[in-house]
Amino acid sequence: MRKKFLLLLALLFLLAGVIFILPAVRDHAPEQTKESATEETESTTETESETPTETETESETETEETTEEETESPGDPVDREKVETHLIIASDTHYMSPSMTDYGAAFDSLVNSNDGKVIRYQPQLWQAFKSEVLAANPDALILSGDLSLNGEKANHLEFSEKFHEIEEAGVPVYVIPGNHDINKPDAGEYFGDQRTDVESVTSEEFREIYADFGYNEAKSEAPDSLSYLVELNDTTWLMMLDTTVCEPENEVYGEIKEGTLEWMEECLKEAYAEGITVIPVGHHNLQRLSRVYVEECVIENCDEVLELFERYLTPVYFSGHLHTQKVMKHLTEPGMDSDTYGIWEIVSNSLILPPCQYGTVTLNTDGSIDYLAKIVNVSSWAAANGETDENLLDFSSYTENYLQTVLKNQIARKLEDVPKELREVMVDFYTDLYKDYYAGVPISYSEKKNEFGYGLWVRYMDPSTEFRQLDGMMRDSISANNHAEIPNPIHLKRP
Ligand SMILES: [Fe+2]
Repeated sequence: MRKKFLLLLALLFLLAGVIFILPAVRDHAPEQTKESATEETESTTETESETPTETETESETETEETTEEETESPGDPVDREKVETHLIIASDTHYMSPSMTDYGAAFDSLVNSNDGKVIRYQPQLWQAFKSEVLAANPDALILSGDLSLNGEKANHLEFSEKFHEIEEAGVPVYVIPGNHDINKPDAGEYFGDQRTDVESVTSEEFREIYADFGYNEAKSEAPDSLSYLVELNDTTWLMMLDTTVCEPENEVYGEIKEGTLEWMEECLKEAYAEGITVIPVGHHNLQRLSRVYVEECVIENCDEVLELFERYLTPVYFSGHLHTQKVMKHLTEPGMDSDTYGIWEIVSNSLILPPCQYGTVTLNTDGSIDYLAKIVNVSSWAAANGETDENLLDFSSYTENYLQTVLKNQIARKLEDVPKELREVMVDFYTDLYKDYYAGVPISYSEKKNEFGYGLWVRYMDPSTEFRQLDGMMRDSISANNHAEIPNPIHLKRP
């Protein structure tokens, strides 16, 4: 009986288990499923989040690949007939308003310690230049920096008014700053025997003063400099580059800022894809062009800028700053064939330094470019305009004599230990060389070396800074720097 009762009790427990525990297990099961679903969801989310990570990785890889691809080659260039385009380009005008001086002792001191700029006749020189620009009627007049003497606000304001006159006659004017234009601590005026500090301009003021000469017409502007791009016509863009360093204070050297470099690449890429020729212009040089001036002339990050221009087969870069006339093709390797592409650089010498010249540029329909430097004919302008000043009527003789006088005084002071009669021979040798060097006239090194004057320089001044400069001028100017015939880069081999 007791056994039967225990068996019945066991059956009752079993039944209760079936009735109460199984549903509980069943109810719990979805929780487990939820949990596992949650885990799955999380795992899915992780998987999904991994997927985008993979996608990012892929896109990074793609970006890297694209960048590498772009660095290697931007693709085939577009061969397209170009619109014939005519430009006039001048540099380092260093404008000084007549209202900033009485041409007294302080002015004399300024010009006598200078490099031979004919500041005294600058207004007339500009008038003569302007008449030649208007007669040529180019598609643009370009000024590649150092617009003012030393960044004086008054000089900038008066000079910009002169550009209005040129634009009103139908020639657009485009400017960029040079290292003498913004935040210059030595901006000055010259009265009596006193040089007095005057107000210079900030970058914002420069942009405002010259708003009508580039900035208001720009297709686009760089984010971190006063650089801008202008569409001259359907096949020609002008890239005006601000290479100056003016903040926190004015520096002589130049650079292309990071944001400007990125902006340049966007512009160059777009132009390349459409078969548009980009003509870049900056104040500082792209290449080391001078043995005489080796410091603070070349853009600090020139290698990066060169590589960028050459990637997009840019034909030529125009600069100034040196005050000498130079033409040079960039050779990526020594002994490079003439049918291998390299960007050309043309440096315009200072418009105000004898022989007072500027460049004429023709972009031909076949994509080739011709460059020729021209001397401003001040004498014929003076005659045509009733001028009576003999210096203006025979301007080339006047400027030659003026340059020699200024230089003779400067160089003679360095040769005080040389016997007087020999010193004069050395001074003449130096000034003749200087005149040709700045004008871009070819100089025969071997012929010059055989001259008596050179022998005296070797004897009395080697080694010295002056001798190094003299020798540098002789070595720099073996070929002519006043003209260039630049082929269409797309017909040349890439290096
Ligand atoms: Fe200059």
